[in-house]
Amino acid sequence: MRRWVLAGVSLMMVLCGLGIGGVTWLIQSQFANTVGKVDFDRPLAVPPLAPSTVDAQGRRVFNLTAGFGQSDFGHGRTETWGYNGKYLGPTLRATRGEQVLVNVHNGLAEDTTVHWHGMHLPARMDGGPAEPIAPGDTWSPTWKIDQPAATLWYHPHPHETTENQVYNGLAGLFIVDDPATDVAALPHRYGVDDIPVIVQDKKFDGDGDFDRGHGIFSDIGVLGDTLLVNGTAGPYQTVTTQRVRLRLLNASTARLYDFGFADGRSFDLVGTDGGLLSAPYAMKKIKLSVGERADVVVQLKPGERVTLRSFRTGPDWTNGGRDEFDVLQLRAAAELKPSPAVPDRLVDVPRLDPASAAQERDFTFRGRRINGHKMAMNRVDAVVTRGTTEIWAVHNGHDTPHSFHLHDVQFQVLSVDGGQPPGELAGWKDTIFLPPHEEIRVIARFADYADPTTAYMFHCHVLMHEDEGMMGRFIVVDPDR
Ligand code: C2O
Ligand code: CU
Ligand code: CU
Repeated sequence: MRRWVLAGVSLMMVLCGLGIGGVTWLIQSQFANTVGKVDFDRPLAVPPLAPSTVDAQGRRVFNLTAGFGQSDFGHGRTETWGYNGKYLGPTLRATRGEQVLVNVHNGLAEDTTVHWHGMHLPARMDGGPAEPIAPGDTWSPTWKIDQPAATLWYHPHPHETTENQVYNGLAGLFIVDDPATDVAALPHRYGVDDIPVIVQDKKFDGDGDFDRGHGIFSDIGVLGDTLLVNGTAGPYQTVTTQRVRLRLLNASTARLYDFGFADGRSFDLVGTDGGLLSAPYAMKKIKLSVGERADVVVQLKPGERVTLRSFRTGPDWTNGGRDEFDVLQLRAAAELKPSPAVPDRLVDVPRLDPASAAQERDFTFRGRRINGHKMAMNRVDAVVTRGTTEIWAVHNGHDTPHSFHLHDVQFQVLSVDGGQPPGELAGWKDTIFLPPHEEIRVIARFADYADPTTAYMFHCHVLMHEDEGMMGRFIVVDPDR
């Protein structure tokens, strides 16, 4: 009898052990870690500057065609989507004061849209889900660039299919120049000392194609184990100047990054989503949630190699918090051309005064809903009066991380969970990490454009959440309406 009991207990223990081992293995297999494992054997692709012409009305005209392609990311042939090419799109560049016109042609087999993320423009030109472009059609929005120099971007925003279209490769940069706010002393030669760094995480299936499977534990969608920068896997960039500016964009579908250098060196944050900061902010790591940008300037010594890394972002392993990646290797030439020091003062960032706010609104993000609602194309969630300033308090009401994004305007951050915002949130922003259970208060002025019939969007920029309805619509109306 005792023998049987003992045998039973041992069997139970073995099974338990296997169970725990299995679960541990399953959890471990969900972690991605490429630190020290990236070969950095491919030169970083730099997206070409989009050619443009000036038409008879003086408008700067760009052409973008969304279409199919095949790319090589070191996994054989991968079916990809791109604008004017096989993956990603060219960098559009225009100067404040210019009227631009973009002919967007849909060469795909499904509806798409193009949204100008961070751009201040009329709602009809914004490219949200209400402006679909059918396959074979061309959409030609036109607007006047009227905002400070900034690193913006563009990507599809079709109803319920944004995650897939962006994941397949549709995205690009839109750099706004402004003679009044460009700082000549900052590195500014595109592709030489001013380098776009578009970061995306991918998974590959056995055929080398993108794996679209959402992680079994993830509440935010696809979490890849391979990073691409500008569509290059394992990239290095040769640096020929003492200082280099990196325009970091998190163009992933879900993942939060915490960028820094492997050797712990500090860098100067000089700009965020909507423009330059009033002064450089020295830091060692910067978190970027989906859709956020950071312009950083880093100094190099001749001949050295330094790795841009993404560090652990927190304990939330189910949503990639424990993952770490080597992102990009900077290889300094044996001799470096001198770069001017980063100036102590950059531009004026006039503060919006909370006392001037005409309205304060509260939004709670929970369960793929905002204030209990999923996005509906026929519901307006906020009516804003043109020319007024508003405070939006955005609260994350559960355990899932989100990324709050507001169309039309750039905002300033008033508080993060009741406290003063950190230095990296001192400038213009259009997208901000919304950690579980925290509240962010932002202030914005809704100037210039009113349209009672076309809405702008505000939403979570985790694209699976956006597609599943975590989005609202607001309209801006004339004061005398
Ligand atoms: Cu970058 Cu509404 O999107
Ligand atoms: Cu946007
Ligand atoms: Cu979200």
